[in-house]
Amino acid sequence: MICLGIESSCDETALAIVADGALLGSSLASQAGLHSIFGGVVPELASREHYHYIGPLYDELLAKTGIKQEDIDVVAVSRGPGLLGSLLVGLAFAKGLALALEKPLLGLNHLHAHLLAIGLEGEARFPALGLLASGGHTQLYRIESPSSFISLGKTLDDAAGEAFDKTGKILGLPYPGGKLLDDLAKMGKAEKGMLPCPCLGKDNLDFSFSGLKTAAAQLARKKAGPTGKLEGRDLENFCATFNLAIAEAICKKVKRAMSKNPDLRRLWLAGGVAANSLLREKLRELAYKKNVEFAVPSLELCADNAAMVAYAGWLMAREGYCHRLDLAAIPRGAKIPDDMLRKPAQ
Ligand code: KG4
Ligand code: ZN
Repeated sequence: MICLGIESSCDETALAIVADGALLGSSLASQAGLHSIFGGVVPELASREHYHYIGPLYDELLAKTGIKQEDIDVVAVSRGPGLLGSLLVGLAFAKGLALALEKPLLGLNHLHAHLLAIGLEGEARFPALGLLASGGHTQLYRIESPSSFISLGKTLDDAAGEAFDKTGKILGLPYPGGKLLDDLAKMGKAEKGMLPCPCLGKDNLDFSFSGLKTAAAQLARKKAGPTGKLEGRDLENFCATFNLAIAEAICKKVKRAMSKNPDLRRLWLAGGVAANSLLREKLRELAYKKNVEFAVPSLELCADNAAMVAYAGWLMAREGYCHRLDLAAIPRGAKIPDDMLRKPAQ
């Protein structure tokens, strides 16, 4: 079965083809450079860029994979959460193709697709404890199957990636600052206990990063002194301290979720922030200590991509799921409806 995946939820336009569970190829246009000028993603510009690139990327993908469009069996698209205007570009393209090719349409939860992508690089067995950390979300799930994700906890304010990017901005790093902050942290030495570890009560599995972000801004100001700017070794040490505080805050909740769900013997980490070197190391260590299998995608599959959408679409289509052509795009903050249709097994 051949599944075309389309991703346009934020600032990457991407298309990919998965055939029988294996990635055949992908095409991507990143807008990072454009939005960097404004210090964050500008929604109107993002939709226009998606609109501009989506057609040419589709042609490029067919040419590079050698797949003819009549060979596509299912069209999968990220339906949310994301920027509404951006999602609509991907959805309109997916619906047009599904209609023209007379093939089923599938709208995927972008966050679930990030986690399911683990199956592209190794065997993904269920159930698993999943941590999704990206620019807009931080979510803990109990994952029972490709179509059954039970939320255990989520961020109550900023997402982990948002905390990285906003702190990066304070430090004068270009947007998005997460990767640069992580790279600088590798050269510095962390000072333990300088930043708070948000806990939110003994049993809570939710996250909160806004207090940590504010404390980090205050600490950066204090460390910078009269120049107002952290530089050189001081900057590296500050980044290491911040990186450690975020990794420890996340690990604390994951550890708690493991104790509350002792039957889950697998831990999956995904999303843009899953590229963070310290978080990968700390969660791998934690899983090892708890004798739990650990899986995280390779770095290129952590950031937004369409391979994860094509693969998750292939998994769902294999289970007989599809959507109607009136599939709605779901913006960030709104609930994704449980509106997939399931064809009876043949
Ligand atoms: O999943 P993603 O590509 O897009 C969303 O769906 O949001 O995540 C992007 C986020 C950004 O906030 C970016 O700064 C962060 O992932 N990020 C990192 C690293 N690489 C990307 N954060 C910390 N350390 C990294 N190495
Ligand atoms: Zn994402």
